[in-house]
Amino acid sequence: MMCSQWFITMHWHILGAGAIGCTWAVQLFKSRHDVTLILSSNERLQQLSTNGGVTYQATDGEIKTYKVNAELAEKNTPIQNLVICTKAYSTINALQSVADRLSSDANVILLQNGLGPQQEAVTLFPELSIWAATTTDGAYLRSPFHVVRAGHGETLIGAISRKALSNKPLSLSPSGDLTLSLIDDIEHKLWCKVAINAAINPLTALNNCKNGMLVSDATLAEKMQAVCREVETIAASCGQPLFEKPLYDMAVSIATLTAENYSSMLQDIQKKRSTEIEQITGFLCKQAEKTGTDAPQNRRLLQQVRQLSLIR
Ligand code: PAF
Repeated sequence: MMCSQWFITMHWHILGAGAIGCTWAVQLFKSRHDVTLILSSNERLQQLSTNGGVTYQATDGEIKTYKVNAELAEKNTPIQNLVICTKAYSTINALQSVADRLSSDANVILLQNGLGPQQEAVTLFPELSIWAATTTDGAYLRSPFHVVRAGHGETLIGAISRKALSNKPLSLSPSGDLTLSLIDDIEHKLWCKVAINAAINPLTALNNCKNGMLVSDATLAEKMQAVCREVETIAASCGQPLFEKPLYDMAVSIATLTAENYSSMLQDIQKKRSTEIEQITGFLCKQAEKTGTDAPQNRRLLQQVRQLSLIR
């Protein structure tokens, strides 16, 4: 269901001012929603103010700065609509940092890679209306609060908590040039995204290569194929069949389409940040353990990426 038929402006709080968080902030702001970024420190507030707001470079090259409001999590005003766009490993801390500000009928959207934190959020906050989302939008930060929109994709959103499932559908409209669709089975889409990330990200991180190398280098292609077969088996053992095509074919098309890109995991390694390996390969290894499925390839990748993160 597309969300564009309504025209209700709302107040959105966005936690996580990375590329996707800044893109959402600008698009919702341009659509006349009230938007407030929740930032982690006074230094970040100062940085935003020095920048004059969030600078956004559109795909046609136009650059503009939008005066988006910002505050710290400690503020005590209520939050009605919250989007968490942090890295997956920060989701729960982010949610906990504002939990007591959420109105009883607040909507919380979790928009990040990986799986695990979404279920944890529902377990920790069963009374909340929680939605999970996954996106194919492309964006990167040129500098803090300066986002470059690299491509227009689609963001799929679905209810994951009992309250969200029983509530009226979420209304995000208008939402600028974001293509937002509400879907019934978000868990399946999250599994598909995790499967693609598990196929591409660890191998690119470990081999310090662009995505395209996983297709052009025969040895890496063979490794990716083995990982894909294993991920398909794990997913099937959890009752989550993935794509109509084999996962390897999907991974090859995505690695080919993004041949010149460095995966988010490799970028994290290069920038000495934590990676999302625990929420991608780690999540799959945990599921494999629960269902008694062999996962030697993924376990090896998990250990190797953990190791790589330690020695940087
Ligand atoms: O995480 C990423 O970098 C991307 O999701 C993907 C699919 C690997 C393509 O670059």
